[in-house]
Amino acid sequence: MSLLPILRFPDPRLKKIAVPVLKIDDSIRKLVADMAETMYEAPGIGLAATQVDVHKQVVVIDTSEEKNDLRVFINPVIEQCAGQQTGEEGCLSVPGIYNKVERAERVNVRYMDLDGKTQTLQADGLLAVCIQHEMDHLNGKVFVDHLSQLKQTRIRNKLAKQARVTA
Ligand code: NI
Repeated sequence: MSLLPILRFPDPRLKKIAVPVLKIDDSIRKLVADMAETMYEAPGIGLAATQVDVHKQVVVIDTSEEKNDLRVFINPVIEQCAGQQTGEEGCLSVPGIYNKVERAERVNVRYMDLDGKTQTLQADGLLAVCIQHEMDHLNGKVFVDHLSQLKQTRIRNKLAKQARVTA
């Protein structure tokens, strides 16, 4: 396993649209293992392949307290969503920035697991938020895109300042 570099907003590669995985092979298994290691190391509760510059529909999530409940979603599709919730979101690609985002409260997601089997999951609360956040990445969106233009400009300025300080 190896740690993968995470793209930082506003890197234009975060806008790429991920393509479906056609076959689970060693390259996908290695990608998932590396993404999980990268997510735990960060630490974060979710990571989309887009964020490590691999434009395939692969997401890893672990919202458990103990960090022992890795979930892998390949080619995820939200089949149904219901309700509404608003919570503070952050993103490993937008370090140090947190903002309220409105999401569905519950989602039904269909996906392929690492054995190539189709699965469905009904999720709510934090897991539902995380699934929606990571699936946005696969569609070239970061949570900042949900915010007002004014907030987006402030975030870009703040990140540019941070980059100058650390450079
Ligand atoms: Ni993110």
